[in-house]
Amino acid sequence: MDRRQFAPATERNREPILDTLKDWLPGDGTVLEIASGSGEHAVFFAPAVKPLKWQTSNFDREQLDSVTDWLAHKPSDNLLPPVMLDVTQTEWSIEAADYSLKPITAIFNANMIHISPWQTCEGLMAGASRILPAGGRLFLYGPFKFNGQHTAPSNKKFEEWLKSLDPEYGIRNIEDVREEAVKNGIRHIIARPMPANNFFHLFEKI
Ligand SMILES: C[S@@+](CC[C@H](N)C(=O)[O-])C[C@H]1O[C@@H](n2cnc3c(N)ncnc32)[C@H](O)[C@@H]1O
Repeated sequence: MDRRQFAPATERNREPILDTLKDWLPGDGTVLEIASGSGEHAVFFAPAVKPLKWQTSNFDREQLDSVTDWLAHKPSDNLLPPVMLDVTQTEWSIEAADYSLKPITAIFNANMIHISPWQTCEGLMAGASRILPAGGRLFLYGPFKFNGQHTAPSNKKFEEWLKSLDPEYGIRNIEDVREEAVKNGIRHIIARPMPANNFFHLFEKI
């Protein structure tokens, strides 16, 4: 049985995301991808970022199965087997494992914090702070507000839809995300505008 899921947006955004990752990724270590979704991003990015290793994760069993099947369909020797990881947990599953031989030097997360409660942003920053070394990088991709303002009318409509799913969902203010980062010893370095009114944010553990 083929359990691969298909997220058409990943085909549209993967190339500009990869271009930015190549500019910003560290030279060695392991990239932890939080909320890997279908797994299509991982199989596209991993072969292009060697010698870095790429660790996929999710808290959703079916999506992990999709990742597993995507990895089998498009193998790359730097793709590690997916792990169950809920960012809101105070200890992430991978912290229990021995990562000393494959230190996580960067964390990549696309399109999660707006389509989940705010606790995922809090959990993401707290976990990144626990596992990243000083200078380790955190990448956040998705739609954001600046000073409480949407960057496009389509994002306003998108947020109305998100809130109809769950009032706790919503496009986050970058200022709030930054504040959460600072609380956890992480600083915001730069924001890069991306196609379709998205942004790519680079953070660094102090
Ligand atoms: C819109 S999808 C984005 C998937 C993929 N990153 C992408 O850009 O195509 C949101 C993802 O967030 C994950 N997610 C939501 N809450 C989470 C949590 N507490 N811990 C880990 N993943 C979570 C979902 O399972 C889903 O894979």
